[in-house]
Formats: sequence, structure tokens, C-alpha cells
Amino acid sequence: MEAFKDRVAVITGAAGGIGSALARAFAERGARLVLADLDESGLEAVAKGLEAKGAQALTVRTDVSQRESVEALAEASWRRFGGVHLVCNNAGVASFGELATAAHEDWVLTMSVNFWGVVHGVESFVPRLIEQGNGGHIMNTASMAGLIGMQWLGVYSASKFAVVGLTEALRRELAPKRIGVSVLCPMMVDTKMTGNSLPVRTGDLRGQNETPAPGAESFVGNIISPDEVAVRSVRGIERNDLYILTHLEQREILRHRAARIDSSFGDDVWPLTE
Ligand SMILES: NC(=O)c1ccc[n+]([C@@H]2O[C@H](COP(=O)([O-])OP(=O)(O)OC[C@H]3O[C@@H](n4cnc5c(N)ncnc54)[C@H](O)[C@@H]3O)[C@@H](O)[C@H]2O)c1
Repeated sequence: MEAFKDRVAVITGAAGGIGSALARAFAERGARLVLADLDESGLEAVAKGLEAKGAQALTVRTDVSQRESVEALAEASWRRFGGVHLVCNNAGVASFGELATAAHEDWVLTMSVNFWGVVHGVESFVPRLIEQGNGGHIMNTASMAGLIGMQWLGVYSASKFAVVGLTEALRRELAPKRIGVSVLCPMMVDTKMTGNSLPVRTGDLRGQNETPAPGAESFVGNIISPDEVAVRSVRGIERNDLYILTHLEQREILRHRAARIDSSFGDDVWPLTE
């Protein structure tokens, strides 16, 4: 299936960062866009930029943590365009800090956006895509932190591991329906995610239990642009890759993880003898 030309793509978290870069990349390839985010002025700015280049874009203020809000997004998408082909469940919030001191509210907020936001996208869009009977593609944004548990990012990692697991299962289930499924797992991308995440947090959450974000130098790997992530996403969707990875550095880290798992089958423990 042609992935973008004359297709309708819904993107959550589209007011900036990776979501807006996806919107530009899809529009350049002929897609019509439904842009969803909490940030209405950001959405308008992205839509204006796309429309100036001749693309069609509908903006829908959406809170992905609320099931009815995502349901309203799906209804608005079908109402405006009569169909949807590509759904990017991309909205997310950052959370830094050690697990021992993580605020309970931080768990709730992070899971409600990063995990439940994707679940709501699946609940509202997958049955409609199946009923439409015309194939399509779902891309969920997880993170490298969804493939390897990272210090400082335990809460965030848990939310993103959940997205990876859900996406792997969804891919198997939707393959017979000719609906492709991918999980986007970037390492560091040059966006305003940390700053954007603060206003959506409660007063209690800010500053008290939260460890200050470690500097970029604390993490391994390059910081790449959202536009590069978008081009890699386009390629991954066209190829129907399960994992869309963005940094070559990921390869070695993931090999190391696989080797550590494999080492659990060492001769000293397998088979089990007295
Ligand atoms: N920036 C990185 O280094 C990086 C790395 C790996 C994964 N990611 C993931 O990429 C995705 C996009 O993040 P980004 O880096 O572009 O950051 P970003 O802050 O620019 O984009 C996230 C968008 O989600 C929106 N959002 C937050 N809560 C929402 C809600 N409840 N409902 C609707 N919209 C909501 C924000 O307003 C924002 O526009 C996220 O899922 C993030 O976890 C980012």
C-alpha cells in the first residue's frame, strides 16, 4: 500500500518536536493530516506551516490520557476526511529521577500519558481501521528507554517498555488484517520534551521528589534532530519495520542486552543439576 500519498495520518503530540516533524515529512509525501495535542496554539502554528505548503491539516485539541478525548479525535478524523490510514500515537511526557524517591503522582502522570495515551489510541482507532478494511499502519512512539531499563529513567522506562510490549503483540494480531505496526524507539532527540512536560504536572510533583534532570552528557549517544527521526520513521513505515531505531549507537547496546539475557543460559545453570 502507498503509505503516504492521499492517505490520512493522525498524529498525537503534534504541536512540536517529533510529532510536528512527522507531520511535515508525511505532508511532503502527499498525506493529509490530523494533528492532536494539548497545546492548541502549537497545533495551529504547525497546521499553518503545513497549509502554507498546500497540505490539508485538521487540528483537534486532545488529551490522550482521557479515553473520551481520543474517541472524539477519531470521530473528528472520520468526519473530516472519511477515513484514516496511519495513526501515530506519539504524545509523551518526560520524567527523571530515582525510583526510590519517585512521587506516586509522577507514576500516575507518566503512565496516563505515555502508556494509557497509546492504549486509548488503540481502543479508538484499531477497531475502526479493521472495519474500514483497507489496511493501514499504526506507529507507537516508545523510546530506547523502552528497550533497556535506564538509570534516572525508571518511571519513564516502565511506561515505554509497556508500549513496546503492547506494540509487539498488536503487530502479530493485525498482520492478517494487512495493518502494519511499528514502534519508534529513539535515543536522544533535540526537542523541548523536558520543558514541555513541566506545565502538565501538578505543583506537588515539581521539584520536590523529582531529581533534577541529568545533563545530556550523562547519556550515551548523539542528539539528533526531530526531522531525522521523521525521515527514519517514513522509511520504517514504508518497510513495515517492527522496530524503528534512530541511532547507530543503539545496536551495540542492544547486542549487549541480548548477550546478558543469553548468559542466563550458562552451563553452570542449564540444565539444572543437584
Ligand atoms: N526527545 C527525545 O529525546 C525522545 C527520545 C525518545 C522518545 N521520545 C518520545 O517521543 C515522543 C515525542 O516527544 P518529543 O521529544 O517530540 O517531545 P515534545 O514535548 O516536543 O512532544 C510531545 C508532545 O506531546 C504533547 N502532550 C503531552 N501530554 C499530552 C497529552 N496528555 N495529550 C496530548 N498531547 C500531550 C505535548 O504538548 C508535546 O507537544 C514522546 O512520546 C517521547 O517520550 C522522545
